[in-house]
Amino acid sequence: MKNRDRLMWAFGEIANYVDLFSKQKCKVIDHQKSGEIQKMLSLQSSEDAWKILKSYLQMSVKSGHRHFFNQLYGGLEMSALIAEFFSIVNNVSTATYEMSPLSTQMERIAVQKMLGFAGMKRGEGMIVPGGSYANMFSMLVARNRLLAKCKGAGLRQRLLLFVSASAHYSFERAANTLGIGTNNVIKVATDDEGRMIPEDLNEKIEKARGGTAFYIGATAGTTVEGAIDPLIEIAKIARKHRLWLHVDGAIGASLLLSPKRKKELQGIASADSLTWDAHKAMGVPLTCSLILFKKKGGMRSAVGGSEGDYLFHHPRQDDIGTHSLQCGRRADGVKLWMLLKVLGERGLALRVEYLLSLAAYAAARVKQEQKLQLLLAHEHAFGICFRYNPNRSESKTARKLKQLNQLNIQIREEVVKEGKFLLNYASIKGSVVLRPMFLNPLTTKADIDEMIDKILDLGRKLAKI
Ligand SMILES: Cc1ncc(COP(=O)(O)O)c(C=O)c1O
Repeated sequence: MKNRDRLMWAFGEIANYVDLFSKQKCKVIDHQKSGEIQKMLSLQSSEDAWKILKSYLQMSVKSGHRHFFNQLYGGLEMSALIAEFFSIVNNVSTATYEMSPLSTQMERIAVQKMLGFAGMKRGEGMIVPGGSYANMFSMLVARNRLLAKCKGAGLRQRLLLFVSASAHYSFERAANTLGIGTNNVIKVATDDEGRMIPEDLNEKIEKARGGTAFYIGATAGTTVEGAIDPLIEIAKIARKHRLWLHVDGAIGASLLLSPKRKKELQGIASADSLTWDAHKAMGVPLTCSLILFKKKGGMRSAVGGSEGDYLFHHPRQDDIGTHSLQCGRRADGVKLWMLLKVLGERGLALRVEYLLSLAAYAAARVKQEQKLQLLLAHEHAFGICFRYNPNRSESKTARKLKQLNQLNIQIREEVVKEGKFLLNYASIKGSVVLRPMFLNPLTTKADIDEMIDKILDLGRKLAKI
């Protein structure tokens, strides 16, 4: 086949795929076939490779399916997906303006827009490959602001940072990467709903010995509970102790897009830096994360300066590579720019509000069912935490709790085996919870009803409690 014919074939396949799952005509995950993967991948000829590629979409987990509730991403925003195709085929690195005048400008415009939503209009930011990376980058800038010489001389003193017990594990990874050390990540207690307790934060900062406290990582939308830390109180504590305040809003920052719901993030404007994953609640294809800073200049001073002269022939302010840890940079700004333009402020607000209404509906449905127990459903969260619990009074002893936990894991395993839905489970203070996330605007209340009915059905079959 000629290249052009191959491309036409590929786009036909892609269109069929998108059509298939948006109309719910396929499973989210097809486990019968997964055992065949190894065998299939050992096929040899180039024709085999094309055939395998054809099966790739069918055999993979379909994150764009209306019943994919598993992760903190899902659904496909078509404008962003199509823009992604264009940027991939163009294949330039958005490091220098010379190589990528359009994608550089698109990224700048998109970042500026996101800074505006965050109340950081005078700040700076960039697109990075993931929320974990964004958290790490914020820590790097905070570290180097405190210890300017550290960039050259290396880290010679013990630094301490504070995150809640429900914060994302990427803070520890970042502390490891930056030479701060995971032991120096101090975990602050959370309340029953997963929010950082400000009094405990203050006490831990005051009692910290043997190192210099420098950074608080608050979370707006914890991974499991969906909790928003009390940002106003935390900001006061950060000011009092002169600490850098970072907010990990990987998922929760998208509330800023809704004029009705953004008040839930009060205090966020006090943050020195903010992580915001456009590939989570905004539906931009993975990866598209933002690291935003309230003040300009920190990114360049933290990382810039050692770049070779082979790349930046005509250095300009617009060369994003001068303040990035990456040299080659995907043109992720193109898809974000496109989404912002196509949906517009109103479309983005409606998107967020609809997703939140799905989570609220799911919470209400769970509450109606005697055998289901809602453990957490924050009004501002895109997911809920619940469990199948046929006999609530009995879940109190350790043995019963263990059985109940096993039952819920089993239910989830069956859900995965059947493949019609996909939702994750996690543990909150020892209790296993089912945690569906609602991030696909194609999902309807009827889809949620189906999921709930399926869990009730499986629970009835599997419960021996
Ligand atoms: C609160 C929070 N922060 C950070 C991350 C990491 O984001 P990413 O998966 O884009 O690295 C996640 C991932 O789910 C998250 O839930």
